[in-house]
Amino acid sequence: MNYQQSKLVKDTIPALREHGERITSIFYKNMLRDHPELNNYFNSVNQKNGRQPRALTAVILGFAANINNLSELVPKFERMSNKHCSLGIKPEHYEIVGVYLLRAFAEVLGPAMTPTVQVAWEKAYWLLAKMLIGREAQLYRDFQGWSSWRKFKVDRVVSETEGIYSFYLKPQDGKKLPKFLPGQYVSLRVQVPESGHYQARQYSLSEAWREDYYRITVKRDEGAQYSNSVSTSYFHPGAVSNILIDQMGAGEVIDVSHPAGEFFLDTNNESTQPLVLISAGVGVAPMISIANTVSESQPGRPVSWIHGSRKSIPFEDHIAQLKRKNTGLRTKIFKTQLARSDVAGVTYDFDFRMDLAALNPADDLFLRHSGTEYYICGPELFMLEVSAYLKSQSVPVARIKCELFSTGDLALKQT
Ligand SMILES: Cc1cc2nc3c(=O)[nH]c(=O)nc-3n(C[C@H](O)[C@H](O)[C@H](O)COP(=O)(O)OP(=O)(O)OC[C@H]3O[C@@H](n4cnc5c(N)ncnc54)[C@H](O)[C@@H]3O)c2cc1C
Ligand code: HEM
Repeated sequence: MNYQQSKLVKDTIPALREHGERITSIFYKNMLRDHPELNNYFNSVNQKNGRQPRALTAVILGFAANINNLSELVPKFERMSNKHCSLGIKPEHYEIVGVYLLRAFAEVLGPAMTPTVQVAWEKAYWLLAKMLIGREAQLYRDFQGWSSWRKFKVDRVVSETEGIYSFYLKPQDGKKLPKFLPGQYVSLRVQVPESGHYQARQYSLSEAWREDYYRITVKRDEGAQYSNSVSTSYFHPGAVSNILIDQMGAGEVIDVSHPAGEFFLDTNNESTQPLVLISAGVGVAPMISIANTVSESQPGRPVSWIHGSRKSIPFEDHIAQLKRKNTGLRTKIFKTQLARSDVAGVTYDFDFRMDLAALNPADDLFLRHSGTEYYICGPELFMLEVSAYLKSQSVPVARIKCELFSTGDLALKQT
């Protein structure tokens, strides 16, 4: 792509940004109409609420605007490529996306999309697509042949606390499972009868690596009352979590992807720097995997786990046991709805919503340690608040890692 072409692309960005919503709706509507098989890949909820199309268009426009300085986009590339590989996206899919995306650009730009601008945009799209395809080829190589769905049998399901269940999944082929890094997730795919398609969702692995099973921990998405222009109100529970919990008992078979994800503790690096795990609700899942792994392989490593919950804490007994075994592990629990059986200092530490300012900055947050790594997982607003607090305490952004249980990224929501 030459200088002239990159200028042509940049010149059209303001108009494309202005019509971002229109582009995303035209692009996906037309693509899914002509290629209905792609409904099996895309999360229908993120299509309806526009979150996924917005994320994709924002990345493409951000890429084109910063074509000479891509360093800021690298973390996003990792998130995209890992997500794509966990969903089985292949190079041939990029051809389809490219055609419909550029058609949507042409529709929005009108006469400004001259043949020369069109060629320049094709170059820009393929520059980005090839970077993603290249990284994805590398990841698929690391997956060593498991690049599509693999059949797993549900071995057992355990209720952790109200509405949260752990699934123990064993590969049907009985072969040893590949290692993953604690914090990573798998995608699971099930048929959703009401849509007539498969729907895939991601679930963090909630146990340290074991060679014969993977464990995930799923919260039932009860949904809420919504309203639209046709009917005044309707109730819509989450699709996949309810199918898993209500229909996927022991013996059922599920499609599972190779573990993936860029939110992980790098166990290949033998660092002994303190870790601070900050979670809320089912955000506990990847933290259990991290805490279990550290307890097994680096038992003395300082780990502070701060968890916020309304009522009961998933894995409460397990965490108490871990603390007895691992003297490096300390916890602080924020609980907003206490039960009669709750005991201060035992089942909880604070009876209010998580507030990091209430903690000891040195012992609970290791703020005086320049190498402390922070792992955060929970609802979006919670993660934004927690990371803002850490930044206000001069923690560098590079040491704050967030796992968003959705598509797009935190910053995207802020803009
Ligand atoms: C990296 C990653 C890791 C994750 N790890 C975990 C984990 O460990 N544990 C866990 O429980 N979850 C995890 N998630 C979230 C999980 O992937 C699912 O998003 C979650 O289970 C909800 O999926 P669902 O199919 O049940 O709900 P969906 O069907 O996706 O619905 C989501 C919400 O949208 C609403 N909705 C759906 N359709 C409509 C409609 N037509 N109109 C209005 N509202 C609608 C529903 O009411 C619901 O509240 C993770 C996500 C990611 C990205
Ligand atoms: C240059 C091309 C592309 C870009 C810039 C891009 C960008 C993105 C982004 C930003 C996300 C959200 C990642 C996250 O935060 O979780 C995403 C997810 C996704 N992408 Fe792509 N993508 C591209 C190509 C493709 C192709 C070719 C396909 C397949 C047809 C595809 C299918 C998906 C799916 C299914 C998801 C997950 C959606 C969800 O969970 O809601 N993408 N992509």
